[in-house]
Amino acid sequence: MSKTLEGKIALVTGASRGIGRAIAIALGKEGATVAVHYGRNAAAANEAVAAVMAAGGDAFAIETDLAAKGAAPRLFAALDAELTRRKASNKFDILVNNAGIAPFVGFTDATEEVVDEIYAVNVRALFFVTQEALKRLNDGGRVISTTSIAARLPFSAVAPYSMLKAPVDNLTKLLAVDLGPRSITVNAVAPGAIATDMAEFLGTAEGREFAKSKQALQRIGQPDDVADVVAFLAGPAARWVTGAVIEVGGGSGLVF
Ligand SMILES: NC(=O)c1ccc[n+]([C@@H]2O[C@H](COP(=O)([O-])OP(=O)(O)OC[C@H]3O[C@@H](n4cnc5c(N)ncnc54)[C@H](OP(=O)(O)O)[C@@H]3O)[C@@H](O)[C@H]2O)c1
Repeated sequence: MSKTLEGKIALVTGASRGIGRAIAIALGKEGATVAVHYGRNAAAANEAVAAVMAAGGDAFAIETDLAAKGAAPRLFAALDAELTRRKASNKFDILVNNAGIAPFVGFTDATEEVVDEIYAVNVRALFFVTQEALKRLNDGGRVISTTSIAARLPFSAVAPYSMLKAPVDNLTKLLAVDLGPRSITVNAVAPGAIATDMAEFLGTAEGREFAKSKQALQRIGQPDDVADVVAFLAGPAARWVTGAVIEVGGGSGLVF
């Protein structure tokens, strides 16, 4: 069977671990060349690169701390250089805004520092990475962001995180309209609880039971469950889907 992303180039932020790594592998499996972005964990990023290549794609790692101001131009200076070396052009096809942090802090205990840090990584960096990406994205391309079901169903244990995922849904719809004339689709996936380093609470039996009590499907969500939906959105079969926020949570939030 032919691969759906043969010849396509993708940038996946936060692809060293968790959901981003699974997305990078899923895109690689469909034949894409994937820029595996990471913040600090070079060893994990190198493992992710190897996993993408083992899945049949091509890959390389790009390091940039997204918490710092000016992160987006720095990321793209590195990406431009690597793509120009490999492909003789800095153009690419698929942006996946996935990097994020979720400090386990509620409304009462939140400090200015923690709110600023979540804002910097989950909102500001996503905004300016997308702004830079659109100067290089081919017409007909894809922008896909990882939001959270918490944007629609606020989760008080992570109140600032919940609040600061809502802008991702908003920007998804705004850009879907702006980029329609370029045939670029803009969508988001909204995972429920997924077993990654971020969802530490799934490490306990109590945490797993809590997650299942909020879902229709009775198992713990895995990074691949999200990655397969992103691969669909990245591919030609999703050509008529734009401005959508697709919940990928085993029916989270259907249970009262
Ligand atoms: N897991 C869940 O239950 C869940 C549910 C809903 C939504 N989400 C969303 O899904 C996305 C991925 O989450 P995950 O669970 O896969 O998280 P994760 O396992 O903690 O991985 C986070 C990724 O983001 C990168 N990152 C974090 N801070 C960064 C920074 N300052 N600069 C650059 N990169 C940074 C990390 O890079 P390093 O490895 O270099 O640190 C890593 O690749 C996030 O947007 C998250 O909000 C997750």
